[in-house]
Amino acid sequence: MHFQWYPGHMTKAKRMMQENIKLIDIMVELVDARIPLSSKNPDIDELARNKYRLIILNKVDMADPAVTAKWEKYYQDKGFYVAKVNSRKGSGIKEVKALIEEACKEKKERDRKRGILNRPIRAMIAGIPNVGKSTFINSFAGKACAKTGNKPGVTKGKQWIKINKNVELLDTPGILWPKFEDQIVGLRLALIGSIKEEILNTTEMAIELLAFFKAQYPQVLTERYQVDNLEVEPMVMLEQIATLRGCLMKGNQVDLNKAALLVLEDFRSLKSGRISLETPEEKEE
Ligand code: G4P
Repeated sequence: MHFQWYPGHMTKAKRMMQENIKLIDIMVELVDARIPLSSKNPDIDELARNKYRLIILNKVDMADPAVTAKWEKYYQDKGFYVAKVNSRKGSGIKEVKALIEEACKEKKERDRKRGILNRPIRAMIAGIPNVGKSTFINSFAGKACAKTGNKPGVTKGKQWIKINKNVELLDTPGILWPKFEDQIVGLRLALIGSIKEEILNTTEMAIELLAFFKAQYPQVLTERYQVDNLEVEPMVMLEQIATLRGCLMKGNQVDLNKAALLVLEDFRSLKSGRISLETPEEKEE
């Protein structure tokens, strides 16, 4: 599912989040493990102030594990609880449940002292489009999830999914818009396929990706694409890849657009391996 963002959408989504945030104890924010900063909307810090915070590095199966470990520490150092999750496979989900309870321990204790014994912790999921919110909710809530609210005799209101005896989840996730005014952020969101907006054409995107491989993952170039000279310009590499893969147009001219699509598709389908497009060090530079 792709989203096209208009000011009206953004205002409505933000208003909904502001309404729903009042009802929760903990904000569970999903980011894409390959771009944990570019896929994070900075406004959420303001929206969710005074709430417990948990960051889910989702799609860890697609990211470079060594870089993911750095991002985990980066966000922990900033005071967030952090979980590494593959929502498709359901890995890391148990840890999420434990972290939510851990984060809200103090509140539970406060409730207990005031004689409130059975009030569940309420959580909300939020994130940019395509980050995996629905997939995560399905994994997290499981198949046999019981919904509370909107039952006969219960006032019509928000739908809460009962995760266990301590935790309830708002069934509609908060949608945040990515902040892609910044060229690099926009490029990274486009590379992972999260935004439809064509900020660059396919060839330009592939060239940026090849330049990134050259700097950070040269083995992708040498092993997958048999580039023998890493000193040449990414455009030249793309031409070599086109020749190697038989991306040709009529008259045996190389078809750069076809080669570019192949490079982008290899990246998105993990054929180039598990790759992270940003690191915390770069942020601190
Ligand atoms: P959203 O609600 O935030 O918009 O995202 P959604 O759950 O629809 O997920 C977007 C895409 O990301 C889906 O793929 C989904 O399967 C995939 N996805 C979600 N979490 C993970 C994860 O942890 N790892 C991996 N590898 N993929 C994940 P799709 O191709 O759009 O759909 P489908 O082929 O799964 O049906």
